[in-house]
Amino acid sequence: MTKYYHITTYGCQMNVHESEKIAGILSELGYTACDDIEQSDIAVFNTCCIRENAENHAFGNIGMLKKLKAKKRDMIIAVGGCLTQQMGKADDLHTKFPYVDIIFGTHNLGDLKNLILKKRGQKRAVIEIAESEGEICEGENPLRTSFPNAWINITYGCNNFCSYCIVPYVRGRERSRRSENIIKEAEELIEQGYKEITLLGQNVNSYANGTDDLSFPELLKKIAAIDGKFRLRFMTSHPKDFSEELAKVIAENRKICRLVHLPVQSGSDSVLRAMNRKYTSADYLKKLEILKKYVPDCAVTTDLIVGFPNESEEDFAATLNLVKKAEFASAFTFVYSKREGTVAARMEGQIPEDISKSRIMRLVEAVNAQTREQTARYVGKTVEVLCEDYDAKREKYLGRDEYGRMAYFASEKNVIGEFVNVKISGANGVSLKGEIVKG
Ligand code: SAH
Ligand code: SF4
Ligand code: F3S
Repeated sequence: MTKYYHITTYGCQMNVHESEKIAGILSELGYTACDDIEQSDIAVFNTCCIRENAENHAFGNIGMLKKLKAKKRDMIIAVGGCLTQQMGKADDLHTKFPYVDIIFGTHNLGDLKNLILKKRGQKRAVIEIAESEGEICEGENPLRTSFPNAWINITYGCNNFCSYCIVPYVRGRERSRRSENIIKEAEELIEQGYKEITLLGQNVNSYANGTDDLSFPELLKKIAAIDGKFRLRFMTSHPKDFSEELAKVIAENRKICRLVHLPVQSGSDSVLRAMNRKYTSADYLKKLEILKKYVPDCAVTTDLIVGFPNESEEDFAATLNLVKKAEFASAFTFVYSKREGTVAARMEGQIPEDISKSRIMRLVEAVNAQTREQTARYVGKTVEVLCEDYDAKREKYLGRDEYGRMAYFASEKNVIGEFVNVKISGANGVSLKGEIVKG
């Protein structure tokens, strides 16, 4: 009888890719993917704890499985990811949800197969949370689910300890994979027909720092030199490590997309200092200037936080001002969320919710107005789009141009995984619509 698995993923791209690795492990154990959690024989929750709402979301969904598990006693429920790695959270989970069978930490993913086998042989829950990171696991076999895009980890963990952020605590110290392994993985993916490779790390610019391996720009250059038509992306870049050499490499290699995600977090120097970001707003704008000197058409996206402890109305105004100056193509905007164990959680001057709410609304409005304006400039232009999917509701194919703009278009034949030229006829907030034209 076929056995089914279902994975629920929260959080960042890194987690999305890690769920592909979990899927690889489950399929090796003989499970088949299914969309309906109620049909599954094993349900895995790959959690995130970057903000309180990510955490609550996971807790809520795990709680909802209580009834199902009471009916389906043989079903295995496993919870992994960043939430479980947070101090004390594995025990919390176990106490709150005693019907969860397996709880595994971020450093225990490579061992998931054994944990499942172990659970099959015992009644008790299996709880494994390794405290430290251990060796990088090579030879993983992810079951990729986002053709024609493929993700490749280049670094794990983070050493930056931005004062608000939980990631260094739950993902451990920064480790870089050897470049030869990364390049080999990229070659294989391109050989298999993948058309877009995204290199993943919390701070890709510090790749292999302090080792004898290639620098990040050198690594990009090597991957861009692989034969075949494909796009190369990377995320995330920390502004403090963004270099002129990297800007040059982007300019000189057409396969590298003209889009850099460069989270600034705030436009206020005192807030940036308290966040431990190690740059000022002037430093940030200078980096953008260098980037634009080599790659004038490069789109820049960012992350912004409002309501960091002691953020004044003036600090917030500085963020709005920076948004204008930097001309971001788009931005992810967040209300600061207090994370237990971080330096900022111990700061005085936490901002009341109503003030944060008012700031986030004003910020979102400013960012959206800018995005809309930039999107509207596309009308009449023809852009090369990599088709990623079909939207059955809209009856349109969709894909992105190299600057990351989503475009919808009709096509008689299936063009998923192909590069097509799309003449843009309309813009709708963040996305574009158009018709395929011969290139
Ligand atoms: N390594 C990446 C970001 C990882 S987290 C980088 O440094 O850019 C993604 C984003 O979540 C961050 O850029 C930040 O804007 C946001 N974030 C992180 N911790 C947060 C917190 N405690 N509250 C609100 N937003 C947070
Ligand atoms: Fe968090 Fe800062 Fe590391 Fe990004 S660079 S993961 S924001 S500590
Ligand atoms: Fe990613 Fe959330 Fe962990 S953003 S690294 S899954 S805390």
